[in-house]
Amino acid sequence: MQRMPNAIQLTELTHDDLLALYAYPAGPAEPWIRVNFVSSIDGAVSVDGRSGGLGTPADKKVFRILRDLADVVVVGAGTARAENYGAAHTDSQLRIRLHHHGFGGDAAGAPPRIAVVTATATLDPSSRLFTDTGARPIILTTAAAPEDRKAALTAAGGQVIEAGDTSVTAGGLRKALEELGMRRVLCEGGPALFGDLIVAEAVDELCLTLSPMLVAGTERRIAMSPNAMPTPMTCRHLIFDQDGTILTRWVRPHTL
Ligand SMILES: NC(=O)c1ccc[n+]([C@@H]2O[C@H](COP(=O)([O-])OP(=O)(O)OC[C@H]3O[C@@H](n4cnc5c(N)ncnc54)[C@H](OP(=O)(O)O)[C@@H]3O)[C@@H](O)[C@H]2O)c1
Repeated sequence: MQRMPNAIQLTELTHDDLLALYAYPAGPAEPWIRVNFVSSIDGAVSVDGRSGGLGTPADKKVFRILRDLADVVVVGAGTARAENYGAAHTDSQLRIRLHHHGFGGDAAGAPPRIAVVTATATLDPSSRLFTDTGARPIILTTAAAPEDRKAALTAAGGQVIEAGDTSVTAGGLRKALEELGMRRVLCEGGPALFGDLIVAEAVDELCLTLSPMLVAGTERRIAMSPNAMPTPMTCRHLIFDQDGTILTRWVRPHTL
C-alpha cells in the first residue's frame, strides 16, 4: 500500500520550500530523468498546438524552479519546433546559491543547457534555438540523420552528438548526458519522447501539473507510443493552488 502523499496548499509554501520539495536526489550517481508536463483535467497536452494555453501562475512558478534545479533541459524536436524553443534563462544568483548548497545549479550561475532530441536532425539553423543568447544547444541525434543537416547545425553553434543509430535510445541519451557531466536531467516532453522514455523504463520521475480546465478537441495526451509499458509510480506530493491548479510529483518506486 502506498503512503498518503503530502497534500499542501501552495500559499503555505515559500520559494525555498518549493526548491526543497523539488530537489533532485543528493549527488545522483547517474543521470536522474525528471519529466515535466502540464495537462488539462480532460487530458489535453496543448491548446491549438501549444502548451501555453494550459499554463497557470502555479505551473509557471514550478516550471521555472525545475529549470533552476536542472543541469540540462531535454526536449523532443517536435516540441522545440512547435514552441520555438530558445535558450533557458534562469536566475543566476539562485543557480549559484543552489550550487553552494549542493542542490545543483551552477558555480558561475550559468543556465542549464537545452538538448534537443531529433532522429532526423530536422531543425532550422536560423531558429531561436541557435540565435537566442545563452548556453550552446546540444543536438542529440542519430547516425542515420543526413550528414549535411548535422554539419549545418554544428556550423550554427550546436553541439551535435549521435546517440543512436536510427533513433535516440534511452541508453544513448543517458550516456551522452553522463559524459557531459549532466545528471540532473529535466525533460520537458513532448509526448513522443516521453512515450519512448517510458517504454525504455528510463523515467525516474514525473512532475505533472493539472490545469483546471476542459479542452476536448483532438489534442494529444502527455505520453504517446506504439507500445505500452505500465509503470507503477509513487506520489510524493500534491500541491493545491487557489485557482484549482494541482501540482503533482510522482517517482518510480525503485528509485526512491
Ligand atoms: N503540455 C505540456 O507540458 C507539453 C510539453 C511538451 C510538448 N507539448 C506539446 O506537444 C506537442 C508536440 O508533440 P510531439 O509528440 O511532436 O513532441 P516531441 O516528442 O517533442 O517531438 C517528436 C519528435 O521528437 C523527436 N524524437 C522524439 N523521440 C525521439 C527519439 N527517441 N529519438 C529520436 N528522435 C526523437 C523526433 O524528431 P524529428 O522529427 O526531428 O526526427 C520526433 O518527430 C506540441 O503541441 C507541444 O506544445 C506539451
